Amino acid sequence: MKVSVIGTGYVGLVSGVCLAELGHTVFCVDVDTVKIDQINQGITPIHEKGLADLLKKNVGSRLTATADLERAVHETELSLIAVGTPFDGQEIDLSYIRHVAEKIGDALKSKSAYHVVVVKSTVVPGTTDTVVTPLLESASGKKAGPDFGVGMNPEFLREGEAVVDFMSPDRIVLGACDTRSLSVMQALYAPFESVDILSTNSKTAEMIKYTANSLLATMISFSNEVGNLCKKTGKVDVTEVMQGVHLDKRLSPIIDNGRRIVPSFTTYIEAGCGFGGSCFPKDVKALISYGKSLGEPMGLLDAVIKVNQAQPRQIIAMLEKHFPSLDGVHITILGLAFKPETDDMRESPAIPVIQTLLNRGAQLCAFDPVAKDEAMKLFGEDTIQYAKTLGDALAQPQAVVLLTRWDAFKDLARLIQPMKPQPLVIDGRRMLDKNAFDRYEGIGM
Ligand code: UGA
Repeated sequence: MKVSVIGTGYVGLVSGVCLAELGHTVFCVDVDTVKIDQINQGITPIHEKGLADLLKKNVGSRLTATADLERAVHETELSLIAVGTPFDGQEIDLSYIRHVAEKIGDALKSKSAYHVVVVKSTVVPGTTDTVVTPLLESASGKKAGPDFGVGMNPEFLREGEAVVDFMSPDRIVLGACDTRSLSVMQALYAPFESVDILSTNSKTAEMIKYTANSLLATMISFSNEVGNLCKKTGKVDVTEVMQGVHLDKRLSPIIDNGRRIVPSFTTYIEAGCGFGGSCFPKDVKALISYGKSLGEPMGLLDAVIKVNQAQPRQIIAMLEKHFPSLDGVHITILGLAFKPETDDMRESPAIPVIQTLLNRGAQLCAFDPVAKDEAMKLFGEDTIQYAKTLGDALAQPQAVVLLTRWDAFKDLARLIQPMKPQPLVIDGRRMLDKNAFDRYEGIGM
């Protein structure tokens, strides 16, 4: 099948490259000509595990990048819209979506063959039907349904695992305006024969995406609230509490010989310093604001955001317990990215923690295996000392604060044990053995 993917951000490019790998002929469209040149040379403008190899394999044969949206629409049967939908604090910004919908509509004016337009960007329920479709119709002078197809196909790609998530999907959700659009969308995913496909309308598909992310975010804030209560309670460790909760057979089903299946989503029921990234905070806030616009108070999701915003304060409170004044205290921050295996610092809990510590006059050293450049963009080059290795970061701290679950930090006990005196260790992700250190503080204990 011939497909055009509009937008070469992490969703668009991963989708385009993976669809080419599945055997489709793909045009990746972007307005950024620098990106287009890079893609056509087999260079990925973003860092995503496994993407570079697949791009190199398919570029020039099944995959081409272009700025010519009209030609891409004319030469393909289906277009995926994968442009950004940033949240402006009140609602998601649909200007990129609107612009692309108009351009596709323009192109459809002069195309006689049937074409299906599919929204892949995360948008609030109703956007495809009430914003995208009318723009396509007015720009093309044609009617959705009889003249062209429209659909919504949310993505479920984790940053850092996006290629694996695309090539081995757990589900495919297809929202469509009619059966003809749906059958073209099904053909796109025909290579995934045994994957569960949920076919529905576009509005439901849009709601599924927000609901999926909101559930995971809710689990994190729930665990953090319980963790904070455990800390106040004393002699109760949230990790043990959650182990007890995990043993519920509805969360970890018992199969033959008493063996348990531990679904990976249960890792979201672990206390920590909060969630971040470009998806959870934005999507939960957008769903709240959408709900309120319809008169639904969205009290639970409001609380999910409030708990998350307050969570970095737990880190500061643990430091204050040991240092009445943080002025001049040497503190090492381990982990800057919002999660491991990425340099993305958007909405990372490290940002409010570092900002507060700088305001209090602490002397900061930071180490992250890949996010140093991003941190420098946010905090400048001189406010924080950036260590090259984990060992260097441990040269002289009075306290070490772990904020990202990088595997490399598992080595911390071995490096800290010989130090005399040992620094205070604050475990913001509960990934360390609390008994391995002389002075340890963790979230939720
Ligand atoms: C998330 C969803 O997991 C994807 O299914 C979805 O497609 C994507 O958003 C999106 O909307 O595009 P992502 O933001 O890349 O993916 O990251 P996650 O790995 O889910 O992590 C999100 C936050 O949850 C991070 O701050 C992370 O530290 C935290 N987290 C993650 C946990 O606290 N526990 C975990 O077990 C995993």
